[in-house]
Amino acid sequence: MNGEPAMMRSNGHRIERIPPILDVNAGPMIAARGIVKTYDTGTSRVEALRGVDFMVARGEMVAVMGPSGCGKTTLLNCLSGLDGIDGGEVWLEGRDIAKLSDRRRTAMRAMRMGFIFQTYNLLPVLSAVENIELPLLVAGVRQKAARSRALSALDRVGLLEWAGHRPAELSGGQRQRVTIARALVNEPAIVWADEPTGALDSTTATDILHLLRKLNAQAGLTLGMVTHDPGVGEACDRIVHMRDGLIVEEERPEMASARQLTTQVMGMAIGND
Ligand SMILES: Nc1ncnc2c1ncn2[C@@H]1O[C@H](COP(=O)(O)OP(=O)(O)O)[C@@H](O)[C@H]1O
Ligand SMILES: [Mg+2]
Repeated sequence: MNGEPAMMRSNGHRIERIPPILDVNAGPMIAARGIVKTYDTGTSRVEALRGVDFMVARGEMVAVMGPSGCGKTTLLNCLSGLDGIDGGEVWLEGRDIAKLSDRRRTAMRAMRMGFIFQTYNLLPVLSAVENIELPLLVAGVRQKAARSRALSALDRVGLLEWAGHRPAELSGGQRQRVTIARALVNEPAIVWADEPTGALDSTTATDILHLLRKLNAQAGLTLGMVTHDPGVGEACDRIVHMRDGLIVEEERPEMASARQLTTQVMGMAIGND
């Protein structure tokens, strides 16, 4: 809970103040100012983020790069509300998420954000389509609607015919496609990816990168992605470089190469994993 004044409903339920939405359709998808995050384990104190300003525009694909331990994962966790911050502001679609209660922030994350991790985090006993529909069912979507949305998400990543297969029956690239479908199923405002190609061989990694670029080009997917791979960074609209808890440099890769890749993937048949 945050320190805001709470009002009570007549039934005793707390009414939380929700910060106003400014203009949902204008401005950046996510914007952060002066983020500070300190880990204090009792014996040591790490200033993981030391005042980071960051934004992702609608439909933009941004890469965060930098040496191990510089704060990339921490930045993603703070921007996505997985982790609380010790200072600064994070605005998602014009709403300050740091001011939300934990419960509301969790709900906002479930509704408006998608996540892709290096390890797939798929439940082994569930089929591909069941893994994708699970978050919808948890959110209260009816079985039939959840199934149809999950199948359409699988279709978007070219895996429709694998819907009934469990993760163990899928290749690494296919599993990552399932996690991408799961990230898309809520039609999120933004998808966060932490080293999405980190566990894949280079051919499969290129495949996944092309798929993400295609989703961005076709459906305007907004993506914030941490990566070690310069090739992944080059395929993004913008690269943000971090060192020691700070953003030290920003670059826009050659427009020509990003545009060429987009043209290439728009004509690409997906699903041939
Ligand atoms: N839960 C935690 N507790 C304590 N220190 C942490 C925790 N998470 C990250 N750190 C520290 O914060 C710094 C940034 O970590 P991280 O964001 O994971 O870096 P990166 O993703 O760039 O490799 C590192 O020094 C790391 O050891
Ligand atoms: Mg990391």
